[in-house]
Amino acid sequence: MIIYDHFSLKNYNTFGIDATARHFVEVTTIEELQDILNNKEYPRKILIGGGSNMLLTDYIDALFIHVNLKGKQLLSQDNDTAIVKVMAGENWHDMVMWTLENDFGGLENMSLIPGNTGTAPIQNIGAYGVELKDCFVSCEAVRIEDQQLVTLSKEECKFGYRDSYFKNEGKDKYVITSVTFSFTKNNHKINSGYGAIENQLEKENILNPTIKDISNAVIAIRQSKLPDPKELGNSGSFFKNPIVNKEIFKEFNLKYPEAPFYKVSDELYKIPAGWLIEQCGFKGKRFGDAGVHKNQALVLVNYDNATGKDILDLAAKIIAEVKSKFNIEISPEVNLIK
Ligand code: EPU
Repeated sequence: MIIYDHFSLKNYNTFGIDATARHFVEVTTIEELQDILNNKEYPRKILIGGGSNMLLTDYIDALFIHVNLKGKQLLSQDNDTAIVKVMAGENWHDMVMWTLENDFGGLENMSLIPGNTGTAPIQNIGAYGVELKDCFVSCEAVRIEDQQLVTLSKEECKFGYRDSYFKNEGKDKYVITSVTFSFTKNNHKINSGYGAIENQLEKENILNPTIKDISNAVIAIRQSKLPDPKELGNSGSFFKNPIVNKEIFKEFNLKYPEAPFYKVSDELYKIPAGWLIEQCGFKGKRFGDAGVHKNQALVLVNYDNATGKDILDLAAKIIAEVKSKFNIEISPEVNLIK
């Protein structure tokens, strides 16, 4: 293991922010991970996977540990189901493509999401009507406190909308080393109900979509709406869609009947933050090198040399405008690291 000092993280975060880590190390085995977590010379340690859901500030006085554990293993299978363990450092999208090559169903709606497999459970990634939790069996993680390798069940992970145990009570306590999924081998559950997918399949005259068709449709939709981090730095949705209670929703709906919304329960409604931000006039706007994406207002972008502070200042401006126009609080989905 080589520990680098004053290491640029530009290539390790999809926002492309040129932040400097005081120290940086890459681990490729669980033993290396346990060793470095046990090393008392570095009091502050920050884990980094695909770097797709973080906003870094300029200089971070910490040891960054890049988790680069690789491998996929078919643990068991019967006629209908395959149980597969995927190591944390496997790129999410490449892994989804691998499941489709094997005709394993379950992750196709989550094609082309940036990031690595090991960090996906932290915010229970989701897209087009499906969330990671729908295929999740368990995960293995190294407990930071005593470096023991432990298994967490689906119940223990307490998944919610862009939320899990790892963002709450379990925050900063574990490093996920692998995720075990359950995939369908036949009778795949086709989730084509999401409006954009239906439209895309219709455009292509596909009546009975396969899981590969769904994946292709999702890829086409994402490519048309969301910027490719390799071309334009971003970390996907910068904000979460706000969930409001019935009273606030009724008032909002009366005033803006044209606004899209999703009913979460009898008491709660989710309002697309992208719509709110667009109504405030931010869509496609650029402030120096920080900007709001032209096709999806939920995504903040780094045109080239934006600093973490530039992005944060823009986010603060957006939050304030949305609050003042709609009296609704929106909050970041990405993790701020400073
Ligand atoms: N909308 C606007 N203007 C915009 C963006 C969206 O009016 O600039 C409206 C759309 O017209 C639509 C509604 O808002 O009526 C919802 O838009 P969309 O289907 O694009 O989804 P979203 O709610 O904006 C969420 C996820 C995305 C995920 C899509 C599809 C969150 C925070 N984001 O976005 O996830 O891909 O649904 O399932 O829940 C991510 O987390 O990085 C991400 C991209």
